[in-house]
Amino acid sequence: MAIERLVEPTMANGDAEEERMEISLRPVNFDEYIGQEHLKRNLKLAIDAVKKRADGSTLDHVLLYGPPGLGKTTMAGVIAHELSASLRVTSGPAIERAGDLASILTNLKDGDVLFIDEIHRLRRAVEEVLYSAMEDYKLDIVIGKGPAARSVRLDLPRFTVIGATTRTGSLAGPLRDRFGIIHRLEYYKEPEIERIIMRTAGILSTEIEPEACKLLATRSRLTPRIANRIFKRVRDYADVNGDGIVDVAVARGALELMEVDHLGLDPADRNMLRLMWENYGERPVGLTTIAALTGDEPTTIEDFYEPYLLQLGLLARTPKGRVVTEKGRKHLQEGM
Ligand code: ADE
Repeated sequence: MAIERLVEPTMANGDAEEERMEISLRPVNFDEYIGQEHLKRNLKLAIDAVKKRADGSTLDHVLLYGPPGLGKTTMAGVIAHELSASLRVTSGPAIERAGDLASILTNLKDGDVLFIDEIHRLRRAVEEVLYSAMEDYKLDIVIGKGPAARSVRLDLPRFTVIGATTRTGSLAGPLRDRFGIIHRLEYYKEPEIERIIMRTAGILSTEIEPEACKLLATRSRLTPRIANRIFKRVRDYADVNGDGIVDVAVARGALELMEVDHLGLDPADRNMLRLMWENYGERPVGLTTIAALTGDEPTTIEDFYEPYLLQLGLLARTPKGRVVTEKGRKHLQEGM
């Protein structure tokens, strides 16, 4: 089953337009970044302190965690910008061998920021090289094989790692301990999502009525990535079916076409809840069973479906598995 989902990190026709037009919806600095006020306050303090010291000290390594789409990558860009540092972007799965990491690290310069997305997916052997690099800016590499093998220690520039993960639970303890600054990104408040949609509309030169913006904000799962994706599709709908202005009628029409319901759930969410309810009723269901029912990977269920359904209270986690709650059942009965 291949339902294109609004929550996925990349989509076939999601951000391609932005790239083609060479515009970015991503905020560049703290002032442009809407929401996550607590996180911003803490990061600003840490960054101001580093700047004030002016003794070549660098920002502590930063770990950002929380559900997908809340702006971890964007925040990494903002941090680098505020530090006037260069940003190098990679991800856990992209670093296949210790040698790949060695090559990235030795190409960094003093003060650079290295962003590692999905850091929980780093391989163990790579992780171990990263520990000592983060700890004392040294790189231990083994040259040669067998009895002739010897170990050398290279000095590395003083860099800052920003790690991003959807779960801290699956991060190895020693790696977690190397981060001086650890923060969870929270779901946004509806007024913040409204401001983000207004900002995006401005960047994309689209007129949107405040009531339509409010409506879209209620359907966006309190997640900027989803708000922006929904907005772009609504804008297409306005261009094709109207005069390009996003009013309430246009917004409603487009949401109906996308099958996004009044809680922001898409067909894949409802399908999962329905399958769980029809097959297991009030009994708890294990993650792998849910994955088998929907045809997804267990990690997809855990990272993309579950967080928002838990947040809304439609789903609950028990020691024996996940259960559809009373509220979840009612939502299924209501239909869209
Ligand atoms: N676009 C995506 N996330 C954003 C945020 N937090 N603030 C402003 N614009 C955004």
